[in-house]
Amino acid sequence: MSYTLRGRAESRLAALLPVLLGCCALAVLTRDLAEVRSLAVHPERSGRGVGRALVLECVEQARRLGLRRVFALTLVPEFFERCGFTLTSLGHLPEKSASECPVCPKRFACDEQAMLLHLDGSKPLPLAAGEPWGYTRLFLGREPGS
Ligand SMILES: CC(C)(COP(=O)(O)OP(=O)(O)OC[C@H]1O[C@@H](n2cnc3c(N)ncnc32)[C@H](O)[C@@H]1OP(=O)(O)O)[C@@H](O)C(=O)NCCC(=O)NCCS
Repeated sequence: MSYTLRGRAESRLAALLPVLLGCCALAVLTRDLAEVRSLAVHPERSGRGVGRALVLECVEQARRLGLRRVFALTLVPEFFERCGFTLTSLGHLPEKSASECPVCPKRFACDEQAMLLHLDGSKPLPLAAGEPWGYTRLFLGREPGS
């Protein structure tokens, strides 16, 4: 996380930092689907279950809203697997790949993996062996950054 603060605001944030554990957001994309975004845990607080607690709170919020699916795009798929998500193809999430990804500044260097959770307990279709992942490979047909 990075902060740009000046003057009095800076000293107020400094006072708050000792209790800052992390952050996370749930973005509702459609009446069916939401995304876990902006997940970060303070480095000094990592490895203590804070990340999982933040993700599971987002999942509960999605459930309360009556949504059916929650996904995340991430460079740490193993963490989301530990939270119950399944590695899948971004191709199964056109609500994201066809709307936000094409205008994302990282679209030419996207190596993020799609993790999906079905709230009814069913198992999402997993990424097939050899199937490309990341917006750049999957939709632009080239290696990220090339
Ligand atoms: C990834 C991140 C959110 C994990 O938060 P955390 O509070 O350290 O994770 P937790 O302690 O809740 O870990 C939950 C489980 O995930 C595992 N895990 C956590 N980070 C992991 C990683 N980087 N790789 C593999 N497994 C990981 C833990 O071992 C734990 O497993 P368990 O079920 O066997 O206990 C945190 O390290 C972070 O903020 N990283 C930098 C920003 C980032 O990568 N954000 C994600 C972008 S989508």
